[in-house]
Amino acid sequence: MLRRLIFALLSTHLALPVQASLKDLSHCDPLKKDAHCPPDPALASKITFDFTKSTWGDQFTSFWTVDSSTSQDKRQLILNDTDGKGAAFTIWQDGQAPTLTSNKYMLFGKVRVQAQAAKGPGLITAIVLKSDSGDEIDWELLGAFENQAQTNYFFDGEPLFNTYNTTYRLDTSSFASAHTYGIDWTPTYINFSIDNVVRKSWRIGDNAIPAYKWPQTPMQVKLGIWSVSNGSDPGTVVWAGGLPDWSGRDAEKNPYRAYFKTLELEDYAGGCNETQKGAEIEYLYNERTNGWQNIQVKGCVKRTTPGAYPPPLPSSSIGSQPSHPSSSSPGPTDASGAPSQTGEQNPNESESSGDDSDSAALPNGRPSSPLGAVIFLLWLLSI
Ligand SMILES: *[C@@H]1O[C@H](CO)[C@@H](O)[C@H](O)[C@H]1NC(C)=O
Ligand SMILES: *[C@@H]1O[C@H](CO)[C@@H](O)[C@H](O)[C@H]1NC(C)=O
Ligand SMILES: *[C@@H]1O[C@H](CO)[C@@H](O)[C@H](O)[C@H]1NC(C)=O
Ligand SMILES: *[C@@H]1O[C@H](CO)[C@@H](O)[C@H](O)[C@H]1NC(C)=O
Ligand SMILES: *[C@@H]1O[C@H](CO)[C@@H](O)[C@H](O)[C@H]1NC(C)=O
Ligand SMILES: *[C@@H]1O[C@H](CO)[C@@H](O)[C@H](O)[C@H]1NC(C)=O
Repeated sequence: MLRRLIFALLSTHLALPVQASLKDLSHCDPLKKDAHCPPDPALASKITFDFTKSTWGDQFTSFWTVDSSTSQDKRQLILNDTDGKGAAFTIWQDGQAPTLTSNKYMLFGKVRVQAQAAKGPGLITAIVLKSDSGDEIDWELLGAFENQAQTNYFFDGEPLFNTYNTTYRLDTSSFASAHTYGIDWTPTYINFSIDNVVRKSWRIGDNAIPAYKWPQTPMQVKLGIWSVSNGSDPGTVVWAGGLPDWSGRDAEKNPYRAYFKTLELEDYAGGCNETQKGAEIEYLYNERTNGWQNIQVKGCVKRTTPGAYPPPLPSSSIGSQPSHPSSSSPGPTDASGAPSQTGEQNPNESESSGDDSDSAALPNGRPSSPLGAVIFLLWLLSI
């Protein structure tokens, strides 16, 4: 329990020494003070992607960014000879994590992915929605457990304790054939579905999680497979059912494979229901953004009235890291913080919670604050 708590605190306070996830693009965190990030291109439409028909080419790479290791060695992502199973995400040694990241972002929406997970301890097949500022909603299929799927969600880089690692039973193996994993992400609930049956509805404010801690910044879709390693957090290795067995594996002989067959996406575009003709739709937010309602949807003419939910974020909290995942209000609140409709910044208006430098962009493995240092020390003592 202590380790789990420390793990959760750690992951909010400093980047873990060893990456344990899909590959991340290096992104500008808009909620970081004075970050001045460029806008996120919006999907702002509905698309279907059929991996059984995809090939390497402009069409593929204009939709997806492929991680650099996979771009250099395409044996990690086989598109054209998988007998109708879809794209084969293939790994045979430690550290590989073929990852596709959509170039476009969604601000609420619908996701359906047909996937067949990789089998083996320590392997994780993942369907991830993730924002530049660390909101995240995941499906994770653990290669160590045949008949289950898991969900997680994060607010601003913080794994939400009461929702983290929720496990669902599957009637048939996640490895033997593809299942459809679904996410309906809205301002007031998240539905997780398997094979089009809703298995969980998380509503805003459920489980005593403060309502403002709701994933509500524009997210990219990521598909891939990763593995834990020797250097991973011990709790993560336990969670993943142990370390992968790499012996006798190579690209041709007996690699581990996950297949992604189809992807359906519908971007709700932050409630925009009317766009300027021919305009590129983009999402723009910054350190003064205090909720999805004041994330600017550039190119939008009309947005539906947001209604009462979710309530505005305390403006000082979204850019900073609460010190405990279950603490309610981490700092002074200013719910009346002016919505930002432009990219301009007035430095005198920005909040100074004293904890602003605590962001996802921290240098690896270094405590970021006095509290971080204490936690870091505790962590060292615990391993
Ligand atoms: C798949 O593509 C690779 C690289 O483009 C090529 O070498 C291989 O022959 C192709 N296989 C099939 C079955 O088309
Ligand atoms: C989400 O799940 C609830 C039931 O838990 C259902 O009433 C609602 O229609 C679902 N929404 C979607 C978009 O499927
Ligand atoms: C873990 O690391 C140690 C030391 O680097 C190495 O001897 C061992 O083989 C590694 N184990 C695995 C499973 O990779
Ligand atoms: C996740 O759930 C599994 C099974 O319920 C449990 O053994 C594991 O400790 C949990 N991991 C984390 C990180 O919560
Ligand atoms: C957009 O939403 C508003 C508010 O709900 C509604 O009045 C309007 O008719 C909608 N427009 C379209 C084109 O759907
Ligand atoms: C910001 O504050 C500084 C010092 O308090 C002041 O000199 C400066 O004029 C202010 N700038 C704006 C844009 O208000």
